[in-house]
Amino acid sequence: MGRNYRTPTVGCLKRLTIKGFQEILAAMATHNSKPQVGERTQALKAVPFFTQMNDQELDVIRSLAIEKSYPKNAVVLTEGEIGDSLYMIESGRVKVFIGDEDGREIILKLLGPGHFFGEMAMIDQQPRSASVTTQEASTLLVLTHAAFEACVERAPRIANMVLRVLAQRVREADRKIGTLALMDVYGRVASTLLELAVNKNGQLVVSEKLSQQDIANMVGASREMVNRILKDLSDRGFISVESKSITIINRELPPSL
Ligand code: CMP
Repeated sequence: MGRNYRTPTVGCLKRLTIKGFQEILAAMATHNSKPQVGERTQALKAVPFFTQMNDQELDVIRSLAIEKSYPKNAVVLTEGEIGDSLYMIESGRVKVFIGDEDGREIILKLLGPGHFFGEMAMIDQQPRSASVTTQEASTLLVLTHAAFEACVERAPRIANMVLRVLAQRVREADRKIGTLALMDVYGRVASTLLELAVNKNGQLVVSEKLSQQDIANMVGASREMVNRILKDLSDRGFISVESKSITIINRELPPSL
C-alpha cells in the first residue's frame, strides 16, 4: 500500500452523511409524479454508502480503515490484478472502466464521495473485474479483506449495506445492457445524459467534468458521433451545452434522430 496514511476522522464520514442526506432531500423535493430514467437512477445515486450508517458503524470503519490520497489520473486498481481491499471514496472522483490492448475503453461507472469500489475481488477473491483511476485528486478509505471482516463482526449491518449497493449495481447494469442492446447511439447518449444529470435548483444539469470522449466511452461510440448528437440535441433545444456543464432543457429527450 502507499504513503499518506492518516487515520480518518468521524467528522469526514459525517460530512458525507449530511451531504448525502441533502442530496436525498433535494431529489425528493424535486421528484415529480412521472419518474424519468435519469431521475430513477439519480435516486439510487443519492444513497451513498455512508448515509445509511450510524455513529457506531462509522466509528468501526474509522478504526479499521486507512486513508490514502491519490493525485489526479492515478491508477488505483488494474483489471485482472489480484487484490483484496475495498475502497471508499471520502473525496474526489474515480472512473471504473474496462479496456482492451488497443487502449479503447468502456466506462462502466463514475463514482464520487460516499461510494465504494473493489468489493468484488474482496468478496470472491478473483482478479479485479475492472480498472479504476482517479479523475481528480481523491482521498480513499481502504479496508483490507481482514479489516472488512472485522467491521462486519463488530457492526453486522455493514454487510447488508454492501449487499444493497451490489443489488443496485446489478439493476443499473441490467438497465445499461438494455440500453446498449435496444437503443441506437442517439438514444444511448440521451439516456446517459439523463443518468448523469443531477438536480440543481430545479434544473437537470450534467456537471461532471466529462469530455465528449468520456461520453463516447460510456456509450460505445466515437467522439465524432457524440459531438454530432450533442450538437443536434442542442440545435433542437433539448439541451444547452456550456463549457463545463450540459443543462437538460427538455427531459423528454428523443430516443433517436
Ligand atoms: P473489483 O472487481 O474488486 O475491482 C474493480 C471494481 O470496479 C469492482 O470490484 C467494482 O467495485 C467496480 N465495478 C465493476 N463493475 C462495475 C459496474 N458495472 N458498476 C459500478 N462499479 C463496478
